[in-house]
Amino acid sequence: MIFHNKSNQILGQVSRVSFFDRERLFAQTPLTIWLTGLSASGKSTLAYALEQDLIRSGRACYVLDGDNIRHGLSSNLGFSEADRAENIRRIAEVGRLFNDAGLIVIVAIISPAKIDRETARSIIGDGFFREVHVSTSLDVCEGRDPKGLYVKARRGEVANFTGISAPYEMPRNPDLIIDTATVSIDDATVLLKSLFHS
Ligand code: ADX
Repeated sequence: MIFHNKSNQILGQVSRVSFFDRERLFAQTPLTIWLTGLSASGKSTLAYALEQDLIRSGRACYVLDGDNIRHGLSSNLGFSEADRAENIRRIAEVGRLFNDAGLIVIVAIISPAKIDRETARSIIGDGFFREVHVSTSLDVCEGRDPKGLYVKARRGEVANFTGISAPYEMPRNPDLIIDTATVSIDDATVLLKSLFHS
């Protein structure tokens, strides 16, 4: 297999362990559930509730959360369009690796641009990717404002803030839409688990 890379002199190595070996080991088919939505829409809350539920029922899974990733893997990135695109590409590549390792992945990241989410889908692979729009309205998110960032963004103290001074492009055809203003976490978890059968 030939991978795209800068030097174009690098070939891939092939593991002796197959995707199906790992499927059997973990007794599950990997999937990436990609939660997109505004800051404070409830993505992380839903992601960690789903993770806990899945782990309790014996599934191997892991949350890739935007805030956490930006403390490590993406700590050198800001919020320009190019940096957000790179952040999403990195998270998608990690998701792909974790899926390849047999894990279920739950991504909680604003990912405001359609094109970047499409890139994520193509990196992870259509069959393993489920897009969930956490559609909680800007009004509700701004009312919650747990980190005080909306207030700062309105004052112009945070640049390129999604929903205020930077765009959020709604998913056109998501696999699921959840508005956390009207759906409880428990009900949302049930809805999210239905994605494993879709
Ligand atoms: S993304 O746009 O690149 O997908 P990501 O989910 O990783 O965003 O990070 C969003 C988090 O960073 C938000 O939850 C918020 O706490 C913080 N943040 C800081 N500055 C901004 C900004 N300009 N726009 C959006 N979120 C920001």
